[in-house]
Amino acid sequence: MRRLLHFLLYLAAAAALELRISHSPVIGLVYKQVVLHCNFTIIASVKKEDVAVKWTMRTVFGEERPVFQFDGNHTASYRQGSLVKTEFLPYGIASLTLSNVTLMDEGIYTCTVLVTPQYGNGKIQLKVRAQPTVLLPSQSLLNAAEGEKTFACAVHNFYPQTIDISWLARKHGSTHEIPLSSDVCTGVPSSHGPDGLFAVLSRVTQLVNETNNGSLYICEVRHESLEKPLRRNTTLVVRAPKPYQQDTGFIIGVAVACIVVTCSCSIFFIIFYQEYLSKAEPQVSSVIKPDLIPINEKTRLICNISGFRPKKIEIKWYRRSPNTTTAPAGYSTREDVALSDAQEDITSMAIQPLEANGRFYSISSCLIYTPTIKDDGAEFECRIQHSTHKSPVRRGIFIHVTARPASCYIFSSPQLPVQGEKLILTCVVEKFYPRDIALDWFRNGQPVEEVTQFGPFSCETDFYSVWSQTEFILTKDKEGAIYTCQIKHSSFGNVEELSYEINLQGVPPEVLWITADPAVPVAGEELKLNCRINNFSPNLIRVNWFHDGSPLHVGMSHSVSVVGSNGLFSMWSLLRVIPRPGVGKTVFTCRVEHGALKDCVERSYILPMLASPLHLDG
Ligand SMILES: *[C@@H]1O[C@H](CO)[C@@H](O)[C@H](O)[C@H]1NC(C)=O
Ligand SMILES: *[C@@H]1O[C@H](CO)[C@@H](O)[C@H](O)[C@H]1NC(C)=O
Ligand SMILES: *[C@@H]1O[C@H](CO)[C@@H](O)[C@H](O)[C@H]1NC(C)=O
Ligand SMILES: *[C@@H]1O[C@H](CO)[C@@H](O)[C@H](O)[C@H]1NC(C)=O
Ligand SMILES: *[C@@H]1O[C@H](CO)[C@@H](O)[C@H](O)[C@H]1NC(C)=O
Ligand SMILES: *[C@@H]1O[C@H](CO)[C@@H](O)[C@H](O)[C@H]1NC(C)=O
Repeated sequence: MRRLLHFLLYLAAAAALELRISHSPVIGLVYKQVVLHCNFTIIASVKKEDVAVKWTMRTVFGEERPVFQFDGNHTASYRQGSLVKTEFLPYGIASLTLSNVTLMDEGIYTCTVLVTPQYGNGKIQLKVRAQPTVLLPSQSLLNAAEGEKTFACAVHNFYPQTIDISWLARKHGSTHEIPLSSDVCTGVPSSHGPDGLFAVLSRVTQLVNETNNGSLYICEVRHESLEKPLRRNTTLVVRAPKPYQQDTGFIIGVAVACIVVTCSCSIFFIIFYQEYLSKAEPQVSSVIKPDLIPINEKTRLICNISGFRPKKIEIKWYRRSPNTTTAPAGYSTREDVALSDAQEDITSMAIQPLEANGRFYSISSCLIYTPTIKDDGAEFECRIQHSTHKSPVRRGIFIHVTARPASCYIFSSPQLPVQGEKLILTCVVEKFYPRDIALDWFRNGQPVEEVTQFGPFSCETDFYSVWSQTEFILTKDKEGAIYTCQIKHSSFGNVEELSYEINLQGVPPEVLWITADPAVPVAGEELKLNCRINNFSPNLIRVNWFHDGSPLHVGMSHSVSVVGSNGLFSMWSLLRVIPRPGVGKTVFTCRVEHGALKDCVERSYILPMLASPLHLDG
């Protein structure tokens, strides 16, 4: 019996080629090279001609693309700078090298290897990241008479958009770093170039004097692409006023010069007047606002004022409430009256460092404001008063706030679809703002017509919720179909999609990547590996852990399954291990089996080799 089993296993192995591929996701850095590993096991010796390799990829937009192909004789590279070294195929290496990675390379790669009659494939996710470059001059000069200084940190070429920039100060001769939180203005990361990378400017304004001479101002940047924060610093150098020097030679020089100067005095004065004393009117930009203004998040409105002289200027910010409250009887409801009454001076929320550009001055006034739902339709005004103006220059802008739905999900009733019976799929989008929303259903990419929408109805006074339902008799041809609920709402800045696959066995679990606590393992200290398993049904699931392929029986604990608002179950499984120093890299795997899954799903965590801690007894 046992021998027969071995023989059957041998036959199965003969048809399936075992591949060892890179652990997903592989992170590739923009403009760098990345290698996606795809190694296969060769039983007998093979020649290069006996092997065929194909690499394809699916972009984040779902488009399939060929990347590289080798048919045993010819190679074809469909992406410039993609390469499989065919001379290594006889050693079981079909790894793909991509040079000069760009954002276009992001996606899921499939490696297919054929060594007749064996055949195998594997998928690798490639994420592309770009590490920011941070520019801050190493020294900042300050004339003793000026009372404040603005430091600007320019952060370029990063991806994805989310970035965290903070400022710290360190007194001369001290090692203590003080975080600077007020008067910091960081713009909205924006992307201009064709490469899709982001850039942002962060400024901090500080009141400084001689006592700050030699102080260090540090700009600290945290980004997903960086292992540790990137720091740049600038030293403040205060220039003492120059003492007046008396010197006989100097006096004679001045006397001679004076004679020459007198002759051209009037001409000089005219030029001097035009160049230095004449007034220049400020150029005022319109108010710049971000495309999306989510509630309860800091938003920045910027008004650029440039090229003015003299430097004395007053910039104020005002907010006018939206004109929604109905005026009491007898009062005028004319807009101007209602708005001017509601005006509120919010200049204290702005930071506006003065900068000298040659003989002119400029200010980038940045209002940092955290809007609430009450700010929808409010007007913000930047008002500039300068001696060149008879009346102030005003720049106003209306803002519209958005709130992302607090939750979006699809639920089915009955939860377990039954062939030949009615199935109702409901797409629920809760607690969003504004009210306008569009929900569309698709079956395998084709629009579904029979849809009933409920709402949008009010939810928690200021927000809205909506349900969209499609119901049908579950015929055999609909089994395996993918239903998509497409949600268009201004808070997304784009479209979001939820999918539901008709599976008579239930809803398969989403298995997340393993998270480790602590994130950087330490030899001799307990390491917790957490495998999260979300949104499955029915509540029958099996989770096992493996260490380098062998099953583990101790050290793990499973949570009970909890039911979410979508009616699906979620749970986690925790493995506690104590990494030993000096042991080579090992792999921990969490394997999930569920009736609605065709195959089991595995997630692995690679524990690198750890050095011994400094103090080790025994
Ligand atoms: C594949 O083989 C190469 C070369 O021997 C090796 O560097 C790489 O780590 C291997 N990758 C995997 C996933 O086994
Ligand atoms: C390889 O390609 C060349 C040129 O295309 C062709 O002449 C040759 O016959 C091919 N060899 C094999 C083994 O198919
Ligand atoms: C990499 O790609 C970018 C954009 O496609 C291009 O501008 C640059 O010259 C390339 N660099 C190299 C070394 O090929
Ligand atoms: C310099 O600034 C500090 C605060 O930053 C203040 O306490 C101190 O009085 C100032 N010194 C002078 C001479 O203005
Ligand atoms: C400040 O920057 C210099 C040069 O980049 C660096 O050597 C120094 O360590 C930095 N100091 C701090 C406190 O970050
Ligand atoms: C500030 O420090 C620099 C060098 O450390 C020195 O040359 C300069 O005179 C100092 N300024 C004042 C106002 O003390």
